[in-house]
Amino acid sequence: MSEEYRNETNNAKSISDLKPPVKEEPKKANNYDGVKKVIAVVSGKGGVGKSLVTSMLSVKSRQAGLSTAILDADITGPSIPRSFGVKDRAMTDEAGTVIYPAITSTGIKMMSLNLLMDNETDPVIWRGPVIANAVKQFWEEVLWEDVDLMFVDCPPGTGDVPLTIFQTLPVAGIVVVTSPQDLVSMIVEKAVKMAKMMKVPVLGIVENMSYFECPDCGKKHYIYGESHIDEIAKDLDIKTVAKLPIKPEVAAMVDSGRAEDIDVSALNDIFEAIKEA
Ligand SMILES: Nc1ncnc2c1ncn2[C@@H]1O[C@H](COP(=O)(O)OP(=O)(O)OP(=O)(O)O)[C@@H](O)[C@H]1O
Ligand SMILES: [Mg+2]
Ligand SMILES: [Zn+2]
Repeated sequence: MSEEYRNETNNAKSISDLKPPVKEEPKKANNYDGVKKVIAVVSGKGGVGKSLVTSMLSVKSRQAGLSTAILDADITGPSIPRSFGVKDRAMTDEAGTVIYPAITSTGIKMMSLNLLMDNETDPVIWRGPVIANAVKQFWEEVLWEDVDLMFVDCPPGTGDVPLTIFQTLPVAGIVVVTSPQDLVSMIVEKAVKMAKMMKVPVLGIVENMSYFECPDCGKKHYIYGESHIDEIAKDLDIKTVAKLPIKPEVAAMVDSGRAEDIDVSALNDIFEAIKEA
């Protein structure tokens, strides 16, 4: 006890004269404290179906009865709300201190820049650091509450924003999405390297638009040539591979906001790997 404090105590005439030492306030709970597991969905380049896979995994998770969320970190090309038919803008509390996630018809929570903009077709021309900060804010300022599984639709590539995601969010594992037109082995290797650097496992690879199931002859046509994804996965010790066919009806469902009606059974194995991560 300091000399000064003791003197004050000795001179005290009532309790209100006593000045107990100031204790640090208990740490305020974070909005994301209830999020149990975060899975990042990444790809080497755009347009390979990363958002589709993010959506499908979330649908799978929800169908399995888990409390599920999507953080749309693809800030300059946010597409998640639209594929779920979510049109309402996100709400905030009166003080403006928290943002409430939007909720889809089956109960998937989501946050996307689209939900904060007046006009979802307005282009976002932010630069890297601002984008990275927006992702951080989605994580910290959205009232996520209880979430068993959160899927993060990352921007394509292995640049600053994906890196920020790994540094800010407690990512438990990543899922890599490729297409047969990609320089698949290079992209997957890059993702594996990044994952190693960040000390998170690559839980699976999804080869999207892998083949086309022919309505005429019933055969699988490998339009982009033979798939090498199994060998690549084996070389890199990635245990789970999923192949998604090109399905025009899937594109139609995404376009019309019916992601929750898509058959997601092709991702069963990857989902099991995610649950175990
Ligand atoms: N297997 C598939 N069959 C049919 N259409 C598909 C398939 N995968 C994706 N598509 C369609 O291709 C387009 C691109 O897919 P998606 O938006 O998921 O890719 P992305 O990697 O997230 O692209 P971006 O880099 O623009 O965010 C979408 O219109 C989607 O509906
Ligand atoms: Mg996308
Ligand atoms: Zn055929």
